[in-house]
Amino acid sequence: MARVLSCIQPTGDVHLGNYLGALRNWVAGQHENDAFHGIVDLHALTVIDQPGVVGKSTIELAAMLFAVGLDPDIATIFVQSHVTEHSQLGWIMECQVSFGELGRMTQFKDKSAKREADFLSAGLFTYPALMAADILLYDTDEVPVGEDQRQHLEITRDIAMRFNHRFGETFVIPKAVMPKAGARVMDLQDPTSKMSKTGDTDAGLISMLDDPAAIVKKFKRAVTDGDSEVRFDRATKPGVSNLLEILAACTGETPEALAAKYTQYGPLKADTGEAVVELLRPIQARYHELMADRAELQSLLRKGAQKARVVAAVTLARAQTHLGLVPA
Ligand code: AMP
Ligand code: TRP
Repeated sequence: MARVLSCIQPTGDVHLGNYLGALRNWVAGQHENDAFHGIVDLHALTVIDQPGVVGKSTIELAAMLFAVGLDPDIATIFVQSHVTEHSQLGWIMECQVSFGELGRMTQFKDKSAKREADFLSAGLFTYPALMAADILLYDTDEVPVGEDQRQHLEITRDIAMRFNHRFGETFVIPKAVMPKAGARVMDLQDPTSKMSKTGDTDAGLISMLDDPAAIVKKFKRAVTDGDSEVRFDRATKPGVSNLLEILAACTGETPEALAAKYTQYGPLKADTGEAVVELLRPIQARYHELMADRAELQSLLRKGAQKARVVAAVTLARAQTHLGLVPA
């Protein structure tokens, strides 16, 4: 069984795009692979300067991951800061990567340009070293990553190979794999852009925690296309196609088959809204249950951290030994 790791930053609400595009595949993947999922709160610290923000998002994200069906007895779900080996190996990784290499990371260039006059933490610059530690600690075989994280995975491989060359075989060299294709969910108000937290309007975004009335209303107001024909065609009918794809993701039918069942936009919007309400209903119920039982949530996370630490501690010790540090 391949060891597969993917991590997610606790920054803000999880939305329908995250769920249908990514989280749902994590849930399926836990039965096919030895799955590790970290909530990377230390990464989120790179851009945050208020107390409590990261902790709140971490708890909420954890509750959501369990609510969508990640099973703490099958997969290993942990909070990064609970497994102190991440910080420890992170420093060692910083010493294996050059200033020049970090300066070439396009995500750093983009993020630092966007922050302009804002405080630019050194952590934002050394972020890929911590990410390398996240991956290498678990002898990870595969990391499903989108385009934006490819470069970080390349640098992780470079660091691992460099370390192995300098200090002897220590790390498994991870492979980037394409995440299994999930649905691509577009903004309901601007169906040519991906649904995203940073979208222009709240009306275009379905949060996993939106109440049923809000969901139905947002679908009712979804932007559709000029003519009134129901057809699945992303290029010329992005609005209707988005609805069909969302409905397909809920029902398991194909968007083309669904298109054949509708002649008008109204019923398609109503049915899609209802289908999403039903899809999210049990998830929301479980989420609220977990949020109301903090002790249970903490205990699930403790269990995840314990499982993670069993692997991470061995890898860190191996790296320390190969470096020739004096044992404590
Ligand atoms: P983000 O919140 O943008 O970092 O994305 C987290 C995960 O959700 C990534 O795996 C994305 O590919 C996936 N994702 C985000 N937005 C969408 C969307 N609108 N449709 C499908 N997948 C998405
Ligand atoms: N950098 C990733 C992002 O911004 C999050 C991340 C941190 C990650 N560590 C990781 C992803 C390890 C995969 C594996 O989305």
